[in-house]
Amino acid sequence: MVTAIITAAGQGRRMGAGFNKVLMPLGEHPVLVHTLSAVAACADVNRMVVTAAADEIEAVKSLIVRQGLQAVCQVVAGGNERQYSIDNALSLIPEDEDIILVHDGARPLIDPQLIKEVIAAALVYQAAVLAVPVKDTIKTVNNEKYVTDTLERSKLWAIQTPQAFHGRLLKEAYCKAKQEEYLGTDDASLVERIGIPVKIVAGSYRNIKITTPEDLIVADALLNAGQSPKKE
Ligand code: CTP
Ligand code: MG
Repeated sequence: MVTAIITAAGQGRRMGAGFNKVLMPLGEHPVLVHTLSAVAACADVNRMVVTAAADEIEAVKSLIVRQGLQAVCQVVAGGNERQYSIDNALSLIPEDEDIILVHDGARPLIDPQLIKEVIAAALVYQAAVLAVPVKDTIKTVNNEKYVTDTLERSKLWAIQTPQAFHGRLLKEAYCKAKQEEYLGTDDASLVERIGIPVKIVAGSYRNIKITTPEDLIVADALLNAGQSPKKE
């Protein structure tokens, strides 16, 4: 069995809209509805657990009902950090789940075929993430705003979600991170720190995360440009 955790319990501070960005409209539906529909369209996903802020649980549940996904979708209260939200979601998933996939509610343009590919890779490699080669040159910068290093671009990949893992492995990684008070920015980093190699699966430049206002404009343009999946 495969469970997908969809994270939607953030506040969208960088969007600056004054409310959760995943509830903002994109085309005809809220951002989160696009995400839920895309994940539900992947036949390899058996059920979903959606993280929602305590005061948005009812709103999220009603979107799920509107999409007819209530039979396969549970909602759980999120925490103060993305990692804590996922921790809460993990507590609802059985110990022996084959694959647990984590996907950001804020990535509405995910192609169901890519979800399938990351699940297939996780079955083989235990841990797999979608990623694309970075387009910009990336430099490290110190507190005084001086460049300290220029990283070799050919080795740099921008990591996306979904990220998929053997269920026991992800649970162990989250448990260790909690015990050791480690806070990571993605799920794979928790798995990496317990010594498990993470496999890269070629993602898509379409699979953007809605973070700042211009991302919504780009997502809207991509949506209008058609759903044809174009892998870079
Ligand atoms: N998320 C979550 N629980 C949190 C924080 C984030 O479930 N405590 C979710 C968000 O809803 C989003 C995804 O994790 O779908 C990625 O997080 P991010 O892009 O950082 O979203 P926000 O935290 O909402 O945005 P910001 O950091 O700008 O406040
Ligand atoms: Mg955040």
